[in-house]
Amino acid sequence: MKLLIKGGTLVLKDGERKADILIENGKIVKIGENLKADCKTIDAAGKHVLPGLIDMHVHLREPGFEGKEDIESGSKAAVAGGFTQVCCMPNTNPVCDNAVVVSYIKNRQKEVNLCKINPIGAITRGQEGAAMADIGKMKVAGAVALSDDGKSVANSNIMRLAMEYASGFGLKCLCHCEDKELVDGGVVNEGFNSTLTGLKGSLRAAEDIFIARDIALAESLNVPVHICHVSTYSGVEIIRSAKKRGVKVTAETCPHYFVLTDDIITTYDTNTKVNPPVREDRDRKEIIRGLKDGTLDCIVTDHAPHSLKDKQVEYNLAAFGMSGLETSFPLSYTYLVKTGVLSLSALAERMSYNPANILNLDGGELKEGAPADITVVDLNEKYVIDGKNFLSKGKNTPFNGFEVYGRIKYTLVDGEIKYGN
Ligand code: DOR
Ligand code: ZN
Ligand code: ZN
Repeated sequence: MKLLIKGGTLVLKDGERKADILIENGKIVKIGENLKADCKTIDAAGKHVLPGLIDMHVHLREPGFEGKEDIESGSKAAVAGGFTQVCCMPNTNPVCDNAVVVSYIKNRQKEVNLCKINPIGAITRGQEGAAMADIGKMKVAGAVALSDDGKSVANSNIMRLAMEYASGFGLKCLCHCEDKELVDGGVVNEGFNSTLTGLKGSLRAAEDIFIARDIALAESLNVPVHICHVSTYSGVEIIRSAKKRGVKVTAETCPHYFVLTDDIITTYDTNTKVNPPVREDRDRKEIIRGLKDGTLDCIVTDHAPHSLKDKQVEYNLAAFGMSGLETSFPLSYTYLVKTGVLSLSALAERMSYNPANILNLDGGELKEGAPADITVVDLNEKYVIDGKNFLSKGKNTPFNGFEVYGRIKYTLVDGEIKYGN
């Protein structure tokens, strides 16, 4: 029941420090120099040791869409990506809008026994936007948040009631921000490249209107709200100014929004199709600024695995989404830390500490007494992304051929090695 991680550089809240970690019965019992114990030892010399990564926005597709992904394949992808904990969105079939589906996911997590999985319940029944789901019962069954991700709750009064009701149960609404009528069938960002390609565009306003609405509701009601996958420069600015006023708003973005621009759609590769769409350099730069100044609290993947047949069709018909679990850390490290935007500690904050804090999850920090959820990485190892190697069933990545740094070596959950050997 003991394990020693020796010789690594620990990524702590206040910086990096060379030290060993002793784990006993699933917990970090000691952090210090030259620790000795008669037990299995992980040699972390030359490696970095991070608090287990936490992805608060993934789609695991089970129940109902197991052709795209299931809880087992999604968990394998998660631990391969360095994630010790994920939160899964409710757009399954049946929708996770009741305690039975929440319990089903938790039971499957126990059977699969890789990463921790926290179900997110739907805000409205069937995610249909008409009536509230069984929020209280889902909370009791173990839901950690609420979301109708995949769409917005269009009716502002229902959203108001849901936000008030959810806050009474200590749950946050995670808002996918999209004005469906304004999107009007758009599949990419509306701008130069949508004109060039002839693909129908979608305005930034279609996202920003709902970011502003959900913040306005949170501010008027004095309840917390979390904005999903921010992709627009203007959305970052709305959130920044709300935070300055003291609104209880938190927000996330994804690697594709700070690595890519919509130049990539000119290939017509359907793996570039995602909702919200990747936008322009102005957006990419502001998202990076938002991550640096803390306007954007977390990096999530919005892991949206799809099967080949969902993607090998013309652009307009292809499914939205990217398989993200196995590229998130190396992309974030390469594009944010190696470029000098974030320190490693700041990256760990956005990929572990902040998600844990926002959703009240255990973990997020390397400290004595904490669960031994730990990710060991080799930051010097360089490799080229190839979706064919993903453990996820979803091979749909726009990052094939991208050269990245940062290879996950070990992922430990409650002191057990779930990835690496
Ligand atoms: O690209 C996306 N894919 N955006 C969403 O909001 C939903 C997700 C999915 O479930 O495939
Ligand atoms: Zn979404
Ligand atoms: Zn999503």
